[in-house]
Amino acid sequence: MLRYWTAGESHGKCLLALIDGFPAGLEIDTDKIDRLLVLRQGGYGRGQRQRLEQDRVDVLTGVWKNVTLGSPITLQVPNNDFKLERLKELPRPRPGHGDLSGSIKYLSSMRGILERASARETCVRVAAGALCQQLLETFGIRTLGYVVQLGSQKIPPIDGTFEQRLGWRNESIIYSLDPSQDQVAKQLIDETQKAGDTLGGIIEVVVEGLPFGLGTHAQWDRKLDGKLAQAVMAVQAIKGVEIGMGFEAATLPGSRVHDAIRFESQQRNSTSLGYARPTNNAGGLEAGMTNGQPLVIRAAKKPISTLQKPLESIDIDTKQPSTASYERSDVCALSAASIIIECVVAFEIAAALIDKFSGDSMQEMHARWDLFQKMASEK
Ligand SMILES: Cc1cc2nc3c(=O)[nH]c(=O)nc-3n(C[C@H](O)[C@H](O)[C@H](O)COP(=O)(O)O)c2cc1C
Repeated sequence: MLRYWTAGESHGKCLLALIDGFPAGLEIDTDKIDRLLVLRQGGYGRGQRQRLEQDRVDVLTGVWKNVTLGSPITLQVPNNDFKLERLKELPRPRPGHGDLSGSIKYLSSMRGILERASARETCVRVAAGALCQQLLETFGIRTLGYVVQLGSQKIPPIDGTFEQRLGWRNESIIYSLDPSQDQVAKQLIDETQKAGDTLGGIIEVVVEGLPFGLGTHAQWDRKLDGKLAQAVMAVQAIKGVEIGMGFEAATLPGSRVHDAIRFESQQRNSTSLGYARPTNNAGGLEAGMTNGQPLVIRAAKKPISTLQKPLESIDIDTKQPSTASYERSDVCALSAASIIIECVVAFEIAAALIDKFSGDSMQEMHARWDLFQKMASEK
């Protein structure tokens, strides 16, 4: 069973991820992890903090001579802006943040809550997911996250090969698949910033090369759609998740929703096994299992809650009306969120792959993958 936890505060010494259940025998490339960390820090609309940090991963445990050992892996991202001891209490809770509820729940300072609730923590979720991407790539499974809507402005993804789409995403200043929309997006973010406001939007992640049968119909807490929804929903500021056609499916008759099944033996490959679906409204998942089609998952991100023009709040000591505290903040962190969601999805897919094909070593996983492909294609 692959699982992980994170630790660390936004302005503490470092962020940590402890990954348990990662197979032995994967040669890892930390530069690839660092490239995603750099992308997580980027995207148009981010605040000052990103200029202070140069996120790089240190692998502290679980790897010997660049190869995973099968023992727990600890990843560390140090904070340049380490100043937790010097930070003062936040006096006025910000609507949309955990400041008020957390300080009541833990009978503690609001500073202590915001330091851990902060999305700075996601740098190690990205590191853990980026490591999983390297495992997935050995099976030909690839994940890509990108922005499809900024505020109410739709930026439809353009079709292309995986490499083309990765190139467009990395070229776009807001990580959409259509860099020709960058100027419109930039203007929208600039206007929002001038108004002292913030902006959210929608992210899509696709996973290609998935075999049949990751996840299961057999028990609710092992359904892959449920696991993905939790992982994506647990990213800061994500308020909605949909798979495939998602909410639109509720508005249409079944004949326009469900994907017909065909068999085209000449199209047989290790993922589809020759079963062709003319549409993919199910987004690659039926009954909690992958169905040989690409996985498509979308997430709605709310606008950042720390506003330069602060919202109505109170002074936590006097309870008198006031406006919310302002902390250095992003105007739009949607691009960063697309990288984070790509990575948390990669983690869940790797966990499901390990469940299906045994996760002690990469060699055993590959042998079982080959055996399953053979058995499934003879069925
Ligand atoms: C990449 C990323 C960056 C974020 N940056 C900020 C920020 O600079 N300021 C802020 O107030 N919230 C920011 N957030 C959102 C808060 O972390 C989040 O809204 C808060 O922890 C409350 O949690 P919830 O929105 O999930 O309920 C960011 C979220 C993400 C995903």
